[in-house]
Amino acid sequence: MGRLLDIFTKLHKKTSRDYIARMMDSKIECMEIAKRYDESFWDGDRRYGYGGYKYDGRWEEVARVLIDIYKLDNNSKILDIGCGKAFLLYEIKKILPNCKVVGFDISEYALQNAKEEIKDCLFNFNAKDPLPFGNKEFDLVFSLGTLHNLSVYHLKNAFREMERVANDSYLMVESYRNNKELFNLQCWALTCDSFFSPSEWIWLMREFGYKGDYEFIYFE
Ligand SMILES: C[S@@+](CC[C@H](N)C(=O)[O-])C[C@H]1O[C@@H](n2cnc3c(N)ncnc32)[C@H](O)[C@@H]1O
Repeated sequence: MGRLLDIFTKLHKKTSRDYIARMMDSKIECMEIAKRYDESFWDGDRRYGYGGYKYDGRWEEVARVLIDIYKLDNNSKILDIGCGKAFLLYEIKKILPNCKVVGFDISEYALQNAKEEIKDCLFNFNAKDPLPFGNKEFDLVFSLGTLHNLSVYHLKNAFREMERVANDSYLMVESYRNNKELFNLQCWALTCDSFFSPSEWIWLMREFGYKGDYEFIYFE
C-alpha cells in the first residue's frame, strides 16, 4: 500500500460549512441537480455545489507539493482523473511548462469553462470506464474529490485502471472517522455515492489492486 498523505486537507479546512442548514434545504432536489454537474453545480447557487468556482490561485501550493513529493519535472507526464475545471493541472503546467498534462471529467460544463491555456489537454470521460492509455503511461496519476462519487462496483475498475496507467498515484476521497463526521458528511454531500471509513477505503484499495498514495478529508 501507498502512503497516507496530507496535501489537500489544509484547503478543505478553510471552508466553513453549515451542515444542518444544507440538510434542511430541499436536499434531495439539490442532490439531483448537483449530480448533473452542469452550470448549477459549478457556478450556480451554493445549495447545488460550489456556488461559483472561480480561480483564486489556491491550487498553486498543491501543485508545488505534488511536484516536490513526486519529483515531477518538464519531462513528466501527468493525468488528473475528475479534473473539473483543471485548476491544478493549470498550476502544474505554469510551473513546468514542458511537462505533459492530461485531464478528464464527466462534466462537459467544467471542461468548457476550464482555463483556455489548458483546454486542449482535457476530454470528457467517465472514471468508471477502461482508460484509453497504455500501461504505466503516466509518471503521476492523481484524483481529487472524485472517486467517492462512484458506486462501489465501479470503484473496482477505477482503482485497477488508475494503478495500471500510473507509475505513481495519489487520490483524495471523502471519509469519516466517527458518527459525527458521518452525519456531517451525509448532510453536506450532494454527489457522493461511496460513504466509507478510512479502514474501509484502504480495504477496498487493497482488494481492487490500488497501491498508490491516498488522503481522506473529513467533515468535523
Ligand atoms: C469535487 S469535484 C473535484 C474537481 C477537481 N478534482 C478539483 O479538485 O477541483 C468532483 C469532480 O468529479 C467529477 N466526476 C464525478 N463523477 C465522475 C465520473 N464518474 N467520472 C469522471 N469525473 C467524475 C465531477 O464532474 C467533478 O469535476
